[in-house]
Amino acid sequence: SKILVDDQIIDRKNLIDIEDRGYQFGDGVYEVIGVYEGRPFMMDEHLERLQRSAKEVQLKLPYSMVELRNLLNQLVKANHLDEGIIYLQVTRGAASRWHEFPGEDVQPKTIAYTRAEERMTEVEDQGGHAVLTEDIRWLRCDIKTLNLLPNVLAKQEAKKNGAVEAILHRGETVTEASASNVFIVKNGELFTHPANNHILNGITRQKVLELCRKNNLPVHEQTFTVKDLLAADEVFVTATKSDIIPILEVDGKQIGSGKPGNITAKILQEFRSLIY
Ligand code: PDD
Repeated sequence: SKILVDDQIIDRKNLIDIEDRGYQFGDGVYEVIGVYEGRPFMMDEHLERLQRSAKEVQLKLPYSMVELRNLLNQLVKANHLDEGIIYLQVTRGAASRWHEFPGEDVQPKTIAYTRAEERMTEVEDQGGHAVLTEDIRWLRCDIKTLNLLPNVLAKQEAKKNGAVEAILHRGETVTEASASNVFIVKNGELFTHPANNHILNGITRQKVLELCRKNNLPVHEQTFTVKDLLAADEVFVTATKSDIIPILEVDGKQIGSGKPGNITAKILQEFRSLIY
């Protein structure tokens, strides 16, 4: 397959320097963009978030939004990608290993590739289980950086228990999940953690908020507790490509009826109608 390296689309090969700062420090930012029927979904929103992440870690993106959009569209075409994702990352580049930023002469490294992936309609329709784990991450979870070890450990805990996600809590407060945002439904109203430094403001999350408002479903960007989560009528998680997954059990405890809820199903249906 083809990959993007800086502004060139080339055949896939190994070319990352052993002293690339992404590799050594996780010093970089990234995005995962869904591709449905050959079309990247909400690419501009993802690229705007990349721009924000880069700014927050003082990394100067080498390409404009328009250039990146064009390059990624070319990459999708070159790979004849129909269903799947684009992975895009920009690191602070390769330099002799010192913690502080390298000199101005060191160029950030941009790479992107695509991965074909089937749609996840089955788990979206049928739902899955989740586990609870303490949120041990840093205080800038709003930045989409390459530092994902706590997320990796949490997701592995989920996998080990046959769950689709690990829901994270900071003390009593539910923040998000290892690679998705969390919503609960109680008495017909939705709640999700506010977009502050404790969560990644998911593109899917933002779309779901918009859909709720458009459909007159009361939604609150308000923190809720582990207790609220377990007592919810419905729980679902949102992320790129897995879209909306109903959570039917958390740590072995049944949520609501134990089946995907009506409000979750409604939102999933609305979300899908944006894609097709
Ligand atoms: N993860 N929260 C975290 C910690 C995430 O890593 C993600 C996405 C989300 C959902 O964001 P969005 O709706 O913009 O995809 C929330 C991507 C998919 C990943 O790392 O693979």
